[in-house]
Amino acid sequence: MRKRLILIVPILLIIIGASIFFLIKSEENAATYVPITPIAQHRNGMEFFDSAICIECHKQIVEDHLKTAHYNSLQPANANTIKGSFENDKNSFKLNEKVVFNMVAKDSGFYQEPVINTQKTPFYSAKMDLVVGSGTKGQSYLMWNNNSLFQLQASYFTPTNSWINSPGAPDQLAPARPVIERCLECHTTYAQNISGSKKGNQFHRKNIAYGIDCQRCHDTVTDHVKYHQQNPEENTARHILKYSSLSRQQRLDACALCHSGLRTKTTERAFTFMTGDSLENFSFPDYDESSLEELDVHGNQYGLLKASTCFKKSEVLDCSSCHNPHKKERGQLSLFNQKCMNCHASLNNPTTCTGDKVKTQQMSNNCVQCHMPLVDSKSMKIQVKEDEEVAVKVRTHLIGIYNNQNLE
Ligand code: HEC
Ligand code: HEC
Ligand code: HEC
Ligand code: HEC
Ligand code: HEC
Ligand code: HEC
Ligand code: HEC
Repeated sequence: MRKRLILIVPILLIIIGASIFFLIKSEENAATYVPITPIAQHRNGMEFFDSAICIECHKQIVEDHLKTAHYNSLQPANANTIKGSFENDKNSFKLNEKVVFNMVAKDSGFYQEPVINTQKTPFYSAKMDLVVGSGTKGQSYLMWNNNSLFQLQASYFTPTNSWINSPGAPDQLAPARPVIERCLECHTTYAQNISGSKKGNQFHRKNIAYGIDCQRCHDTVTDHVKYHQQNPEENTARHILKYSSLSRQQRLDACALCHSGLRTKTTERAFTFMTGDSLENFSFPDYDESSLEELDVHGNQYGLLKASTCFKKSEVLDCSSCHNPHKKERGQLSLFNQKCMNCHASLNNPTTCTGDKVKTQQMSNNCVQCHMPLVDSKSMKIQVKEDEEVAVKVRTHLIGIYNNQNLE
């Protein structure tokens, strides 16, 4: 009897000890789990999360992504996100002979105040609630009126670092333009229209996922995050859409949704298209394919690229052949030139430049400057003087032979 007890006690102790150990262990694991609370929900039920929950396993991608124009394309207005100045002398512009727009910073926020004929009180005072545009080329400002969303008349133009009348607006005081879901579709991950019609401008103010975040391109993540949190030893991605399993057209469509200019014959509601879908089931390009040099404000990189010899003669070229969608790469021309060389200097494709050797060397073999020159945007431009216009410059994606003398 004694002997048995002597055996049972240590066994019991081991069992109790082990259970306590595993209890603590699993608590530790639970403590490192970031609680996954959605920030918004799609009308189809899909949940949206802040990219902060991806940091745990994709730290570098998330940190890089926060700096991209995509991520910063729709943000609540504040002193950091508004690029225009509120300092004296820089905080106004003349709309016409009678009206001056003043930009005013108050404790309650930032306002646009047009003044007629130097009257004391402004004609109206409109609060800038949301900012559209990272500010690479310019910004536009939106205002809430209860649940209705409007675009304000004054915008910011980066090339001149000044406030301007919004491109396309009349040079008279104009009523604020209603903002419809289609406008937000290209600039943010999700916004819920509650107007009952796609032309309505009422949105659920608490159900917005700001900026172009991970899920705009990667779709649903709930099961992916849960699975990998519970199986930290798993290195193969599970429960997530894989770009590598998509066709070239599907990969292109995921970018063309927003990079093929304005689209027409839209059959589906905004925010219905998801990566992997075929864009032609939703809408068609709103441009004449025979006049591809016509660039509009909202770039048509897809249409131009598709018309290039590089694209037509290669079976693999797509947007990610040159762009890392998670990184801010603007201005790093040597990085892009390297992408050209991936094809133009490889053994399988020995096509090399036949341009003037001296000139190309003087330009440090800067392929992009000669073959993808900067072109003036046709609609994102302003009249600075009677006979002087300043336009935003856009890299054409019609890769080809140009004989322009003023290459930049
Ligand atoms: C607990 C860990 C974990 C979290 C949190 C996590 N992932 Fe992952 N994810 C992984 C692992 C492991 C892989 C596979 C290895 C790799 O590609 O990095 C992966 C791969 C991926 C892939 C590549 C799929 C492929 O093969 O093409 C995508 C896209 C992705 N994750 C998106 C996300 C997004 C978006 C979030 C945040 C909403 C997220 N992940 C959060 C662990 C995680
Ligand atoms: C939901 C719409 C949307 C999708 C999808 C989208 N983009 Fe964009 N993209 C934009 C908008 C809007 C901007 C301009 C953002 C700004 O400056 O405010 C932009 C800007 C860019 C820029 C310029 C970045 C810079 O530094 O100025 C590149 C490059 C780009 N996108 C590539 C891509 C690629 C590649 C894909 C597909 C993998 C893609 N985009 C998918 C809307 C989108
Ligand atoms: C079809 C998609 C699409 C729609 C719809 C759209 N945009 Fe854009 N927008 C873009 C893309 C893409 C860019 C970047 C263009 C480029 O760099 O070539 C852009 C750029 C901008 C910029 C300049 C951003 C910067 O930092 O350079 C502003 C401001 C802007 N859009 C405002 C708006 C507003 C306001 C609406 C709605 C009334 C709207 N856009 C509708 C796709 C769209
Ligand atoms: C504009 C679209 C877009 C956005 C936004 C985006 N991704 Fe991606 N992501 C892609 C594409 C396209 C690929 C495939 C790239 C390739 O095949 O070269 C990819 C690949 C990946 C991969 C696998 C390959 C790799 O680079 O490790 C992971 C992981 C990933 N994304 C995570 C994220 C996370 C996390 C976020 C948000 C912080 C995010 N992505 C935001 C388009 C996007
Ligand atoms: C995925 C591979 C690939 C990439 C990346 C690529 N090209 Fe090409 N490019 C091709 C192919 C294939 C052809 C057709 C060659 C032929 O006709 O033999 C071509 C043709 C060209 C031509 C001739 C165009 C014409 O109209 O005759 C120029 C110029 C060119 N590429 C420049 C560039 C530049 C500059 C870059 C980088 C910005 C680049 N390419 C990136 C594959 C590529
Ligand atoms: C052959 C290489 C190549 C391919 C393929 C490519 N791009 Fe680009 N893209 C560039 C270069 C180079 C720039 C200029 C970058 C800079 O100015 O820093 C650029 C710039 C851009 C810009 C910013 C335009 C501007 O001047 O402000 C957008 C938006 C963009 N690309 C989207 C796309 C999309 C969407 C696709 C796919 C349809 C695509 N790109 C395919 C090379 C490429
Ligand atoms: C100084 C401007 C300039 C630079 C820089 C330049 N090219 Fe060219 N390239 C030209 C001109 C001009 C032609 C057409 C020459 C002709 O008429 O045959 C050309 C032709 C080409 C062709 C077509 C060859 C063929 O057989 O049809 C390719 C491919 C090409 N270049 C690729 C490149 C690549 C890749 C780089 C960067 C390493 C580059 N180029 C740098 C001006 C330039």
